Amino acid sequence: MTSSWTTRPENAGDVAAIRDINLAAFPSPHEADLVEALRADPQAWLPGLSWLAETPDGDLAGYALLTRCHVGDSPALTLGPCAVKPDHQRRGSGSAAIRAALRAAREQGENLVLVLGHAEYYPRFGFTPASGYGIRPPFDVEDKYMMALAFNPEQPVPSGVIRYPAAFGV
Ligand SMILES: CC(C)(COP(=O)(O)OP(=O)(O)OC[C@H]1O[C@@H](n2cnc3c(N)ncnc32)[C@H](O)[C@@H]1OP(=O)(O)O)[C@@H](O)C(=O)NCCC(=O)NCCS
Repeated sequence: MTSSWTTRPENAGDVAAIRDINLAAFPSPHEADLVEALRADPQAWLPGLSWLAETPDGDLAGYALLTRCHVGDSPALTLGPCAVKPDHQRRGSGSAAIRAALRAAREQGENLVLVLGHAEYYPRFGFTPASGYGIRPPFDVEDKYMMALAFNPEQPVPSGVIRYPAAFGV
């Protein structure tokens, strides 16, 4: 684990590097294509919620994306893809990018984030099973993989079925 990751939101010059991170992290181009489809969808893409973690010499290693989804009719965010270049994995850059994206979302006034992913990984950021809030995905998946994070416990959390951006194809 290194603490020397710098995080920053993507800028216009990062598009190809973000594609490369996703191509390297996942076995197929699906996630790289998904990021580009989301970026092209103004209903899904929110400025300032696509985050990179880089080394001190500017090597882009980790990536995390939050886009707009809904729970019923209420706005929420969906986290993903999260991706780290294989030669940098398990050294903290994924966590750094995710924490930075979540912090930015909170600062932008968002309250609810959903993630479908590794049940051993996302709880460290505060995610718990979405079923605890009465939130369900529009597909069958084991409960523990569909997780939710509400920043402010005082604020009501909507329940219902998640509506993903069209790019997710669900
Ligand atoms: C998953 C991923 C984003 C994590 O980022 P990272 O920088 O490698 O991980 P970090 O250094 O931030 O965190 C390390 C921790 O994550 C855990 N972790 C990493 N990959 C994991 C995986 N596939 N499943 C479960 N836990 C995982 C490690 O076990 C480690 O846990 P520990 O702190 O308890 O030892 C990255 O490994 C990756 O891109 N993997 C391939 C693509 C992928 O699976 N993306 C996520 C889809 S849900």
